[in-house]
Amino acid sequence: MNLLQEIENIYKQAQIKFQSLIRESEIDPTKNEFIGKKGSLTHILKQLGSLSVEEKKIIGKKANEVQQAIEGLVIETRKRLQEKEIQAQIESEIFDALRPTPSKLQGGLHPITKIQMEIEDIFVSMGFHVMDGPEIETDYHNFEALNFSEDHPAREMQDTFYTDDKNLLRTHTSPIQVRALKLLTPPFKMIAPGRVFRYEEIDASHENTFNQVEGMVVGEDISIANMLYVMQQLLIKIFDKEVNVRLRPGYFPFVEPGFELDIQCFVCGGKGCSVCKHSGWVELLPCGLIHPNVLKHGGLNPNQWTGFAFGLGLDRLVMMRYGIHDIRYFNSSNLRFLEQFSQI
Ligand code: PHE
Repeated sequence: MNLLQEIENIYKQAQIKFQSLIRESEIDPTKNEFIGKKGSLTHILKQLGSLSVEEKKIIGKKANEVQQAIEGLVIETRKRLQEKEIQAQIESEIFDALRPTPSKLQGGLHPITKIQMEIEDIFVSMGFHVMDGPEIETDYHNFEALNFSEDHPAREMQDTFYTDDKNLLRTHTSPIQVRALKLLTPPFKMIAPGRVFRYEEIDASHENTFNQVEGMVVGEDISIANMLYVMQQLLIKIFDKEVNVRLRPGYFPFVEPGFELDIQCFVCGGKGCSVCKHSGWVELLPCGLIHPNVLKHGGLNPNQWTGFAFGLGLDRLVMMRYGIHDIRYFNSSNLRFLEQFSQI
């Protein structure tokens, strides 16, 4: 093959090769294949010395033209690939609310929200209303109407955050008991889930923001036996197995008698760990019969109406169910933690 033709061929090959590149990083190696130190065109240029003056003129000229043309291809290709990259970046940054997301990035419900929905279903199936109440409460609803008088020492246990206008971030969902008594006509059954706040030292089992579900049943001749039955149904449905429980006397000004229903710690199986404060038991369900003063605040005659109430701690329940050893994960926005629940 004569050299001129060879040079032509090299150019054709270069055109095809540069056309086919898809990454900018491939440009330099391709350029070297043709006009680098060991490139095919360079190889021909090296042979020029052995040619006659006449041939040198013609072939040298051609080789120079092709070298320049290949350099042109390099510039063109670089431009094409850079534009393509910019275009791809623009496309990837377009936010289209209707476009389906790749499954890994799909959001999911927080484990607390999920368990709250499950609990709502369990109670709705037993004929309970689901109620809501404000997170910023009055002192009256959070304390006074629940039988915590102004200087009551039990207020100490529920220190909270106050607003300038003397309202407060509710310390429990129990203020919704007061609202329910005023709103609903007895006999009634209700639950009220919600976020609550306390001025707490934060550790593995205490948060300043956590979640409860309040429950209240008001009717005639409601007894502790009725209360225990409902609590039992709830635990069986939630844990889907027998749960070891113990009942202790517990003090809350708005119930009399009051109890603490503890469950055996699922995280350590009762051996003792940081979640159960090394006791093997976790306080899960404080409960009791509604104090007559609370009924009176709600406008009911305590000689006619009776009832029970309970306050379920949702964070602890989720911790028991999934063996989570630290309550601080819930508000941490830690995706590695949250993603574990998005498919459950
Ligand atoms: N509100 C109480 C608390 O948060 C719990 C409770 C609710 C106790 C209902 C008895 C009855 O500590």
